Amino acid sequence: MGILNLLLVSPAAIPERCGGDGLIGEDMGLSYRMIVLGGDGIGPEVTAEAVRVMDWFGEHRGLDITARHELYGAAAYRAHGAVIGEAVMADLREVDAVLFGATGGPDYDEIPLEIRRRDSLLRIRKHMAVFANLRPVIGYDELADTVSMKAEAISGVNMMIVRELNGGIYFGQPRGVTVSANGLERGVNTLVYETPEIERIARFAFDLTKQRGGHLHSIDKSNVLECHQLWRRIVTRIGAEEYPAVSLTHMIVDNCAMQIIRDPKQFDVVLADNMFGDILSDLAGAISGSLGMLPSASLSLPDDSGRRRALYEPVHGSAPDIAGQGIANPLGAILSFGLALELSFNSPGEAEMLRQAVHGALAAGVRTPDIMAGGGTAASTAEMTDAVLAELQRLHDA
Ligand code: IPM
Ligand code: MG
Repeated sequence: MGILNLLLVSPAAIPERCGGDGLIGEDMGLSYRMIVLGGDGIGPEVTAEAVRVMDWFGEHRGLDITARHELYGAAAYRAHGAVIGEAVMADLREVDAVLFGATGGPDYDEIPLEIRRRDSLLRIRKHMAVFANLRPVIGYDELADTVSMKAEAISGVNMMIVRELNGGIYFGQPRGVTVSANGLERGVNTLVYETPEIERIARFAFDLTKQRGGHLHSIDKSNVLECHQLWRRIVTRIGAEEYPAVSLTHMIVDNCAMQIIRDPKQFDVVLADNMFGDILSDLAGAISGSLGMLPSASLSLPDDSGRRRALYEPVHGSAPDIAGQGIANPLGAILSFGLALELSFNSPGEAEMLRQAVHGALAAGVRTPDIMAGGGTAASTAEMTDAVLAELQRLHDA
């Protein structure tokens, strides 16, 4: 069924749901807590729309989620001199899910560098230990006229990028810019992975692949980088020893970039390190018509009760050029909430319903400017959500 076909929470951790009336939460008294960090630029605009969708599920499907809004980024710095409050930071590890909008932009850049470095989104990802970043990429037939790729190339694309999120060149030491005695500047970042980090993300990707199409592509630059020779060796070993039924293909990153555009349907699950996963997921955005369409979920290992910490973010950035105009595409944020329905709120049926509602809104021709190239009815951020809510209502009443 879903995009994920994935039971990420161990079944033992989930009390059995009462069947019958189609309502969730209610009878069991299941309730969930979510922190919403709107962040910079269009972040608060799009997370607000995801919360409207959450409220719809609360009202019509008995889903009990309490959303607590907290400041992040330039707004937080103006309010209390930090990118995120320490108490909020601590709570991110305790709640069932965190919904994050966006970071960066001119206001954010005004914050002193040491403070940005200390408190950034990267620190949140590390602090929550969400090492596995899932970025589903779907080909939307409804957007065939908008997408720059051929309709037959994107039709039926259902690919999952698994990006390692807690290591690699984003975090490696040494890093920084130094000035040597002769006055020359030297910039350094370090690509480093240790065996357990590779094993952990490889197992995650293999588990996921087993539950999907059974085909894993592992991406590296092992023709040049020793670190990626290790990556390839370990992924190969984990596959052979623990997942003999999964078919594994190694692909060099530059070739992968070309293959994603040439024939994206060849991919089921794509495993990449932190930086390559970042780049390839933006590239794959071309398949979905706009970066504004892409959701993501980042997960930790399960704790003793089977619960994973989870951070949900649309893949697009803060888009300062359109912030405050009410024209940002909310679907990346709404679909990120959809991933939360499946992965954190024990509601895969509702997640599927939400994906269908997004297809329905697009089929009705409702378009924010970023997906307007093929025509349609121009919609604001809120109107796009209205269209999704109308579709949800229709599916609910049917
Ligand atoms: C992403 C973004 C971030 C990243 C930036 C904003 C730090 O590009 O989530 O893809 O590079 O991870
Ligand atoms: Mg990125």
